[in-house]
Amino acid sequence: MLAALPHCLLILVISHLQCTSARTTLSTRNTDPDGTTFLWLPQDDYSGSSFFDRWDFFTGEDPTHGIVNYTTRDDAYASGLVYAQEDGTVIMKGDNTTHLDHGVPRKSVRISSWAKYNGGLFVLDLKKAPWGCGVWPAFWTLGSGNWPYTGEIDIIEGVHDNEHNQVAFHTGPGCLLNPTADFTGTVLMRDGKNNTECNGLINDNSGCGIVEWSRASYGPFFDSQGGGVFVMKWDDMGIAIWSFYRQAVPEDLTQGTPDPSKWGPPVAALDPTNCNMEQYFSNHSIIFDITFCGDWAGNSYASTTCPGTCTERLMDPNNFVNATWIINDLKVYRKQELDGIVGANAGTINPRNWIGILFAISGVLFMQGM
Ligand SMILES: *[C@@H]1O[C@H](CO)[C@@H](O)[C@H](O)[C@H]1NC(C)=O
Ligand SMILES: *[C@@H]1O[C@H](CO)[C@@H](O)[C@H](O)[C@H]1NC(C)=O
Ligand SMILES: *[C@@H]1O[C@H](CO)[C@@H](O)[C@H](O)[C@H]1NC(C)=O
Ligand SMILES: *[C@@H]1O[C@H](CO)[C@@H](O)[C@H](O)[C@H]1NC(C)=O
Ligand SMILES: *[C@@H]1O[C@H](CO)[C@@H](O)[C@H](O)[C@H]1NC(C)=O
Repeated sequence: MLAALPHCLLILVISHLQCTSARTTLSTRNTDPDGTTFLWLPQDDYSGSSFFDRWDFFTGEDPTHGIVNYTTRDDAYASGLVYAQEDGTVIMKGDNTTHLDHGVPRKSVRISSWAKYNGGLFVLDLKKAPWGCGVWPAFWTLGSGNWPYTGEIDIIEGVHDNEHNQVAFHTGPGCLLNPTADFTGTVLMRDGKNNTECNGLINDNSGCGIVEWSRASYGPFFDSQGGGVFVMKWDDMGIAIWSFYRQAVPEDLTQGTPDPSKWGPPVAALDPTNCNMEQYFSNHSIIFDITFCGDWAGNSYASTTCPGTCTERLMDPNNFVNATWIINDLKVYRKQELDGIVGANAGTINPRNWIGILFAISGVLFMQGM
């Protein structure tokens, strides 16, 4: 590792801030529209048998009124609701083995990260995401303190056998979604108009939402293709979400050197023009959950082709064989600005950044097993 450093640094300074050796590829330099150059550097990596080490297991009543019994960490392990498999994938699921009486809540898991973030690039690689009649999963981030003043970002969310993922933002009053920003999804309507109000305190707490265009972004088609990768980018340029089904995952992502400028327009975005990021989003934990019935899956159940009622559906464990996250890994990258860089190929790095960059490079090499 030490021997590799001088070589890497030389290339880092004189070329495109890319460093390739036989075994490592370092982060690609990114540029914001305002000309700021930066790297996305690895910050947190949740995977394998240590995946669950740095999360709280939420055991309260479901705030969305699901008929669910969120388990403790110990109970989740003992009941086989969370575990790592031999191939390195991580399972997190609703109970699919217990027959229940009518109205009894089904056991499931809701976890939130100890780490709190004020921006970053969040990359979730999934082999499968949960779905099925009465099932309502979400992968999201949530600010600390009073909801919704520090913001909520719903990255993956859906119910039943939906095929289109739904992204949503919930904020304090005053944050507006710009429907003409560059993204491919469709803004959710309210009273026949694009709903641009992200304020979570009005409109039945719906916030503002964007439905993905791709049929492979949620449910059976997403799973049947081997899943894919969801990315949420949150910085002073706003919030943007990409989703890639397995065959479309960009190589720079797979290699751990993400460069969002190469990915084309996101599926959803919150433009900072009418929603100041620092004001509306802070101290976010990452959350995974799977609930059943409740405000969305329960209230919409009768309008689907799902059999019987949602409460009846809950009784038979065989109805929950697909209510499972199978996670390849979750990585969080942080933005390391490179001020002092001038021009495309040359320039110097501000000395105060050297220590951080050196540190980050050792981190990358370390994480990649050098
Ligand atoms: C939830 O599960 C716990 C642990 O198994 C159990 O003690 C509790 O009674 C369950 N709660 C409900 C409402 O079923
Ligand atoms: C919603 O926003 C889109 C994108 O700007 C626009 O094309 C569409 O016409 C809008 N729909 C309505 C009903 O205003
Ligand atoms: C975010 O967390 C920091 C550190 O705990 C705290 O000082 C700050 O007040 C929090 N911000 C908000 C908006 O709650
Ligand atoms: C589970 O997924 C399989 C494969 O898509 C499907 O055939 C089956 O009907 C699903 N079962 C339930 C209960 O949703
Ligand atoms: C329950 O879910 C797990 C994880 O998806 C799966 O391996 C197992 O076969 C399922 N059990 C039953 C009884 O369907």
